Amino acid sequence: MKRTRICELLGIEYPIIQGGMTWIANAELAAAVSNAGGLGTISPNAGMRLEDDVVANLRSQIRKAKSLTDKPFGVNLVVQIPDIEDLIGVLIEEGVKVVTTAAGSPARYTPRLKEAGIRVLHLVASVRHAKGAEKSGVDAVIAEGYEAGGHNGIDELPTIVLVPQVVDALSIPVVAAGGIADVRGFVAALALGAEGVQMGTRFVATHECIAHQNFKDGIVTATDTGTMITGRRLAPTRGLKNEFTAKVAELDHRGATPEELLAFIGIARSRMGQLEDKLEEGEAYCGAIAGMINEIVSAGDVVSSIVEGYDRAMASLKEGVW
Ligand SMILES: Cc1cc2nc3c(=O)[nH]c(=O)nc-3n(C[C@H](O)[C@H](O)[C@H](O)COP(=O)(O)O)c2cc1C
Repeated sequence: MKRTRICELLGIEYPIIQGGMTWIANAELAAAVSNAGGLGTISPNAGMRLEDDVVANLRSQIRKAKSLTDKPFGVNLVVQIPDIEDLIGVLIEEGVKVVTTAAGSPARYTPRLKEAGIRVLHLVASVRHAKGAEKSGVDAVIAEGYEAGGHNGIDELPTIVLVPQVVDALSIPVVAAGGIADVRGFVAALALGAEGVQMGTRFVATHECIAHQNFKDGIVTATDTGTMITGRRLAPTRGLKNEFTAKVAELDHRGATPEELLAFIGIARSRMGQLEDKLEEGEAYCGAIAGMINEIVSAGDVVSSIVEGYDRAMASLKEGVW
């Protein structure tokens, strides 16, 4: 397996990152990915109820992960959330080595994180934002195409178009995200100039992920057309097609105001779709790659199948065949 600057930067064996996923990027999943040589990531809200204290939840998730692995793992911060200052305090106190940031300016928190010796990777969906992140002092960017599950960039750039342009524009390493589920996506990402990959949807359908069984089954049974983007006028979001996405599409079609859309969607919907027994009513963030995910496996096997497949793929490519 090729070692890249991402391996050096994060102190990991293979440049494979499990992305943050608000309700379901739990300690067991992160530790399994890190133990397999990649970088697991915890989300502060993982597994908690709406009324629970997110700061206490993050501390307990970090401690759980530390009890399960001695390898580095990361924490994902959606930088607009209200408790951000306290969350940063906790991850510094607990000695977390890597933070991935998303959905907001990296300029605000990167200096504090870097001062604490933490590696910072910021998620971007355009060259302009990637350049801004580099200027803010982040160590690497994660360039995410609109194939990805969850919130997408408003310009809807696909991974294959976004990644090489970001690579050309920056000198720091670039991680590709969106539409990667196996060794084919991994090799393609490296061919585009990325020095690593981040995957979300593939890691939902694993034994260690805390996602509700219905959500995992929804991914496994989805076909190539099983996901859609909703909320283009608010915050474009890709998820499994269900009663919820049909209703949002209908509201959009009727010309509902952003306030009306927000009132319908709310924060609880994503928890319902991902952690509760309410797949049809909830927001089940899911990437377009779901059609290629046909079974629930262990997170370590996701990493090792890419590592093993990479050497085979390289040998085949030398022969001029895949
Ligand atoms: C269920 C789900 C929840 C997500 N939540 C977050 C999040 O809270 N923060 C974040 O930065 N990215 C989030 N993402 C994006 C992932 O971290 C990752 O970048 C993305 O899933 C990669 O594309 P893929 O789904 O095609 O693998 C989420 C993705 C999914 C599927």
